Amino acid sequence: MADKIIPSFKAADLVIELSSTPKPKPDVIPFGTVFTDHMLTIEWNASEGWQAPLIKPFGNLSLHPATSSLHYAIQLYEGLKAYRGDDKQLRFFRPMLNLKRMSNTAKRACLPAFDESEFLECIRQLVETDKDWVPHSDSGSLYIRPTFIATEPALGLRKPGSALLYVILCQVGSYFKNKAEPLSMWADPKYTRAWKGGTGDCKMGGNYGCSLFPQYEAEEHGCQQALWLYGEDHQITEAGTMNLFLHWINEDGEEELATPPLDGLILPGVTRLSVLELTRKWGEFKVTERYLTMSQLCSALKQQRVKGMFGSGTASMICPIGHIVYQGEKLHIPCQDNNSLLTQRLTKELTDIQYGCTPSDWTVLV
Ligand SMILES: Cc1ncc(COP(=O)(O)O)c(C=O)c1O
Repeated sequence: MADKIIPSFKAADLVIELSSTPKPKPDVIPFGTVFTDHMLTIEWNASEGWQAPLIKPFGNLSLHPATSSLHYAIQLYEGLKAYRGDDKQLRFFRPMLNLKRMSNTAKRACLPAFDESEFLECIRQLVETDKDWVPHSDSGSLYIRPTFIATEPALGLRKPGSALLYVILCQVGSYFKNKAEPLSMWADPKYTRAWKGGTGDCKMGGNYGCSLFPQYEAEEHGCQQALWLYGEDHQITEAGTMNLFLHWINEDGEEELATPPLDGLILPGVTRLSVLELTRKWGEFKVTERYLTMSQLCSALKQQRVKGMFGSGTASMICPIGHIVYQGEKLHIPCQDNNSLLTQRLTKELTDIQYGCTPSDWTVLV
């Protein structure tokens, strides 16, 4: 059967209005505070459909005070990066996975569908326009934030009749303040990030705003991030805004790299999938998507079967976990010299691909 054609904007209709006042590029900046000179906007409304994409000087949005994204959180976002290799070439890392995830989230948010390839070409042209902002460093990159908001100018919870898809860009260096330090996590079952039938597998802003309160409680307990548990058996689901991996000798005595399955609770991370695919290709140990509980982790720690734990995500890449505070106890997670060999190897293989040192069909040239 032929694929259904999605009514979408077309990259060929893109209009570019260049800024006449480009900003000086900062040397080092805190993440997400200084944006590049341009942004991409694409408007949609129910009667006329998608309008022509526009690249224009970066600026504020003008929204009606009743705008439905502000009242009912009908909005979503994505996060991906463009990397500059030693060969000066800019690359995206598996961008269609982000855009497919964005489409899935848009469907769940009752926002209109679009053609992901057309959107990628518009983003490519935005990055090309602001290419001088992509850092010349092997740890820096350009963060790309596609955002999709309902702009219905009326109260009343209903499917939006108008929406705005836009993309902004900012430079990014190292995500965590203490990069080399393994993360400290606080695990308390009184909070949960996601639940069966909910939107944990979608990248909606609402999932993140409500995680702030537990995040601050984690800090009060001397930890950097919340380790999200779920259910009576305290399943381990995600680590802050990262997917979670446990490298251990499992109950059957096998060396295993395990991460929770995509059952609706877990965000299908691009880095998660890449770690699964890389380690499966190595074929050196069992790689499994399976449920993991705190009691399984505690027994494994007691029996010295844990080799390491880490979080994975675009922002932080591969982040070792050093300890977990759980039920009043500080659980020490083994990691050698701040970084286990596995996390070092994964970081190297992934960055070599992202920065073009290892040729791979996972990258798309800008
Ligand atoms: C809750 C959550 N889990 C995992 C991830 C990691 O996903 P990715 O590897 O696509 O960045 C993110 C970041 O987007 C996230 O917000």
